[in-house]
Amino acid sequence: MSAVPAVRVALLGAGTVGAAVARRLTDRADLLEQRVGAPLELTGIAVRDVSRPRDLAGVPQGLLTDDPESLVDQADVVVEVMGGIQPARGLIERALAAGADVVTANKQLLAQHGVELQDLADRAGRSLEYEAAVVAAVPVMRTVNQALAGDKILSISGIVNGSTNYILDMVARLGVPFQEAVQQAGDLGYLEADPAEDLDGLDAAAKIVLLARVAWGEDVGLEDVQREGITGLTDADFENARGTGQVIKLIASAWCSGPPSARRVEVAVRPTPVAADHPFGLTREGTNMVIIEAESAGSLRLSGAGAGGDETASAVLGDVVNVARSRVAARD
Ligand SMILES: NC(=O)c1ccc[n+]([C@@H]2O[C@H](COP(=O)([O-])OP(=O)(O)OC[C@H]3O[C@@H](n4cnc5c(N)ncnc54)[C@H](OP(=O)(O)O)[C@@H]3O)[C@@H](O)[C@H]2O)c1
Repeated sequence: MSAVPAVRVALLGAGTVGAAVARRLTDRADLLEQRVGAPLELTGIAVRDVSRPRDLAGVPQGLLTDDPESLVDQADVVVEVMGGIQPARGLIERALAAGADVVTANKQLLAQHGVELQDLADRAGRSLEYEAAVVAAVPVMRTVNQALAGDKILSISGIVNGSTNYILDMVARLGVPFQEAVQQAGDLGYLEADPAEDLDGLDAAAKIVLLARVAWGEDVGLEDVQREGITGLTDADFENARGTGQVIKLIASAWCSGPPSARRVEVAVRPTPVAADHPFGLTREGTNMVIIEAESAGSLRLSGAGAGGDETASAVLGDVVNVARSRVAARD
């Protein structure tokens, strides 16, 4: 047993991401304690149905609860991986007001209410971290927010939705008819419960909004996104692209326009033909890739898994370790 008091971690959700976070908090306990300088104590896991069987090998079953409020009230760090707007929003507000730091993977909540939540966190002097909300395991948020904090970001563009990239890749590389590829992605469980999230570009829009806010400090919202999904594409569009050595990708992008005195941040998500040998053209299946252009750093490319339980848990735990470290450093 460590003599150092633990940092209490409350987990909201034990689905694809939450279960992976719980397992890693348990099986990496020693490593995480070493990194934080104190043990991370998983105090409970809020779910809707405590009796549902779930993949929580090594995690004590007694940690499951259907009372998220009580859990939040006794936590130092709250990890929100339940998704949706409510009750997630209310629980995050409650956590920040009670002095906890918050880590979330909830891109839609952040895209819609992130400005208010960040404001609340700032006023409470607490952290609101969300690396996992944008391209899961790939540290894009941290690159824009921290690594490039001393640089001037010119543009960000990327393939940030794995499901649509899988569909477009099947069509371009294997010649699968478009509608069949959509069906296949659904059958494989690659599409969100509401497929419009992926196919209409809503998921990609949320991610590019979060990146644009951090890159330029502007209050960009979902309503600002010039958005076109992939549902309007036809086999003829793919044929035309193929004929010119191109492939169609769903590209999310953000850039600044206008003179410095009237600068505007523009955000867009749209199917875009790119050269088959461009880094985006070579991005296969569910892989994501983001290219950041910065004045001094030049062109940076980050790619990897943009979804998956363990992959997303990697980003969540990175944030947990960072906020827990700060709490331990702030102790007397
Ligand atoms: N899956 C990914 O690859 C991925 C990648 C990046 C970001 N994300 C984000 O991570 C979050 C979680 O995604 P997921 O795929 O893990 O979702 P999920 O599999 O649907 O899991 C959601 C979990 O939250 C619990 N939950 C939902 N509503 C609740 C409520 N009202 N009260 C208590 N518990 C509640 C569910 O409980 P039950 O189990 O009892 O139903 C479930 O355990 C989302 O915001 C998603 O956008 C996911």
